[in-house]
Amino acid sequence: MISEIEKKIKEVKSFNPKDFKDVENFRIKYIGKKGFINHFFSEFKKVKSSDKKAYGLAINELKKLTIQKLEDLNYKFNSVNTSSIEKEDLTRPFSVLELGSRHPISIIRDKIIEIFYKIGFDVSEGPEIEDDWHNFTALNLPEHHPARDMQDTFFIEKNPDFLLRTHTSSVQIRHMENNNPPIRTISPGRVYRNEDISARSHCFFHQIEGLYIDKKVSFSDLKQTLIYFTKELFGKSKIRLRPSYFPFTEPSAEVDIYWGLNSETDYRITKGTGWLEIMGCGMVDPNVLENCKINSNDFSGFAFGMGIERITMLLYQIEDIRILYENDSRFINQFKNSI
Ligand code: PHE
Repeated sequence: MISEIEKKIKEVKSFNPKDFKDVENFRIKYIGKKGFINHFFSEFKKVKSSDKKAYGLAINELKKLTIQKLEDLNYKFNSVNTSSIEKEDLTRPFSVLELGSRHPISIIRDKIIEIFYKIGFDVSEGPEIEDDWHNFTALNLPEHHPARDMQDTFFIEKNPDFLLRTHTSSVQIRHMENNNPPIRTISPGRVYRNEDISARSHCFFHQIEGLYIDKKVSFSDLKQTLIYFTKELFGKSKIRLRPSYFPFTEPSAEVDIYWGLNSETDYRITKGTGWLEIMGCGMVDPNVLENCKINSNDFSGFAFGMGIERITMLLYQIEDIRILYENDSRFINQFKNSI
């Protein structure tokens, strides 16, 4: 009986098919349900005990060789098969590739970056997990300062404090620590605040903050920069600055742009005033400069910060902030032409 198996081993080794049909017949004959290998296995019980070991080794050898042979042949014939593509009509138009689209927040972020890039601002980034110094203390918000409550914070660890940054002003501190003036930089990034999720606010969102430090930078430089920016982004350059308070700027202001009252939507989003608040700004507080080892007698500067979601919602007339995070392709695909 063993000699029968050995004969089959030789046959497998020398098997040389003409086409895939031969391979298929070979497969059925050898490893099919009623094939040789199953047959030999079923004969195993009839083999004399003294021969069992040699017999077992022989069938296993046959099985291994057959499977290996089939794998090689399949590979060979499959690769031959693909060459039949040549017979296909190469002039047939190919199916159109569905292109994806960029997220509206990325589109607006990149537009803002480009606008500031044109007037010499570079881009700086920093970590989303921050320490107390960069998010608060260096920004003129020492411990127990009441303004710390202005931004409800997600703490990760207490003492020493680690937290999710509440604004990208932390990046400005890092940038000032590592660079000498003149500094012109904008810092886009994701920020986190412990706020209830609603149509208008979310517990995380994106900001872009700007910083300009040089000799003799004045409030009128800030105003001109804002007029340039609002004209580029919104096509509107009528702005007003309302006095406000931020611990890291003095004086501080809130920037409104005149949106107009041409449509019913304009009435609704501006609450009938025609004005829309778009960002906060101010002259960098000398304490902040000193905290970053910049001499506040020689240098001054301005800073501003805005929420990218807010601007995106305004520009695309999006009513609910939550839709920006759902990644519903029916929503995202509407921005294909905006890139
Ligand atoms: N960091 C402020 C905020 O998150 C925005 C701001 C930046 C205001 C720079 C003034 C100057 O609300």
